[in-house]
Amino acid sequence: VNAARRLLIRNDSDTVEMTREVMDEVSQQAVRAATIVRRLRDFLTRGETEKQGVGVTKMVEEATELALIGSEALGVKVTYGFDPRAQTAFVNRVQIQQVLGNLIRNALEAMVGLVPRELTVLTAMVDKETIEISVADIGPGIVDSIRAHLFQPFVSSKRDGMGLGLSICRTIVEAHGGRIWAEANPTGGTVLRFTLATSPSSGASNAERADSPRRR
Ligand SMILES: Nc1ncnc2c1ncn2[C@@H]1O[C@H](COP(=O)(O)OP(=O)(O)O)[C@@H](O)[C@H]1O
Ligand SMILES: [Mg+2]
Repeated sequence: VNAARRLLIRNDSDTVEMTREVMDEVSQQAVRAATIVRRLRDFLTRGETEKQGVGVTKMVEEATELALIGSEALGVKVTYGFDPRAQTAFVNRVQIQQVLGNLIRNALEAMVGLVPRELTVLTAMVDKETIEISVADIGPGIVDSIRAHLFQPFVSSKRDGMGLGLSICRTIVEAHGGRIWAEANPTGGTVLRFTLATSPSSGASNAERADSPRRR
């Protein structure tokens, strides 16, 4: 809009054509922003989500394979580690797969241009009622200016980033009574971890656990 205003002030032979191009761009981006906000609002107001007992290994494998489809995932080395005790989580499968997809896309984006690119997806039983899932990369880690606001909407270090991925992840995980947080990967890079409950009753108590990390 500012560019269009400057063109109109200059008002030379190119003004009409260039202003039209700029306004086309304005219009497209406004529609894009509106769509994103509407989808987010629909999601957030959908009310109580349907949850059931879901096999963790299959859910994680499916989501990872889906997120790895596409050229940007070529040449990524994926390591899985499935805790045999982490059998069933009480979740909305589609939503948790959306969380995994967002985390994996971020991990891949953090490793663009790196050779090799290594993605590690693990499940672990942390106690009788709590499963932890982690997505680790070997990228540059989280930039300092972002760290404190990592899960807030519209926080992004990427040129084309919307900054909604992690805020959606947090909304979903907390709607499941779980926690999500980031850690530095000891071998370099970043680990995103989140917890899930194994049964309907364990969700609430998990959310209250004093020893579980809280990153808001
Ligand atoms: N695996 C990661 N490694 C490094 N930085 C990350 C990682 N995941 C997220 N981030 C940081 O958090 C920001 C917010 O992520 P997200 O909410 O998914 O938005 P977006 O991906 O659109 O930028 C990213 O822009 C990036 O700076
Ligand atoms: Mg993202």
